[in-house]
Amino acid sequence: MKITKAVIPAAGLGTRFLPATKAVPKEMLPIVDTPTLQYIIEEAAQSGIEDILIISGRGKRAIEDHFDKSYELETELARAGKTDWIQSLESISSLANIHYVRQKQALGLGHAILCAKSFVGNEPFAVLLGDDIVRAQKPCLRQMIDVYEKYEASILGVQEVSREDISKYGIIDAMPVETGVNRVRGMVEKPKPEEAPSNIAVLGRYIITPEIFTLLENTRPGAGGEIQLTDALCALAQKEPVYAYTFEGKRYDVGSKIGFLQATVEYALSRSDIGAQFAAYLKTVIGDKA
Ligand code: G1P
Repeated sequence: MKITKAVIPAAGLGTRFLPATKAVPKEMLPIVDTPTLQYIIEEAAQSGIEDILIISGRGKRAIEDHFDKSYELETELARAGKTDWIQSLESISSLANIHYVRQKQALGLGHAILCAKSFVGNEPFAVLLGDDIVRAQKPCLRQMIDVYEKYEASILGVQEVSREDISKYGIIDAMPVETGVNRVRGMVEKPKPEEAPSNIAVLGRYIITPEIFTLLENTRPGAGGEIQLTDALCALAQKEPVYAYTFEGKRYDVGSKIGFLQATVEYALSRSDIGAQFAAYLKTVIGDKA
């Protein structure tokens, strides 16, 4: 079955970025000049996704405004003759059909995904987490959909992480199937490095079969007292094949300050409008520090 629907959880409070996130949703913090959530939605759209459900929460109205049409702004830009800008703003509001539902209580990622049950219905769907931005030649989700089309089973996007980062992620226990593809035997959410089954982490991209919803409904709070998607996926892997695919591309953890800064610097350096000037500036800063 074709994957046309994606779910993006965006109800988190963003406490790691306070005070910036007191009044601004963390998903709207920009990398250079584009909100992090726009990169995620562009990846989904470029991967063939048509309908996106954003799991929203209180204080997230700016997200809806950003992906809507902005008549006032477009009228002003037209009056000022800035037609390039009008096109670029219009392209944001036509990326995909975007739907919203509110997660009323922050009970964990698994609970957020359960809020998508009636939107998803009985078809496999994608999940993209906003804290993980991937720069790749072929969009990360597209790579995963290609693998899904071969296996017709749930696919988790993974990469290896360093030992000190293991306790930040869902870690898989898996056996090799072919280059880049492993069959998942089990999963643990945020294990201690000495208890982890591997150093292969799930990094914010999933294709999941709809069987997950029944399992989520029966998942008890796990790590951190939250209903964990990882626990439901682990249960799913006992019932039907689940695969892990090592995607190509560089992934940034924009949910952490260092990851956010790394993404900011590298995206700025790659821009045709400001990259060269920014590189020259960085050299002077590094010169000062050395
Ligand atoms: C979530 C998931 C975790 C996954 C991670 C990827 O954790 O629970 O399994 O590895 O995203 O970024 P969070 O970062 O929301 O704590």
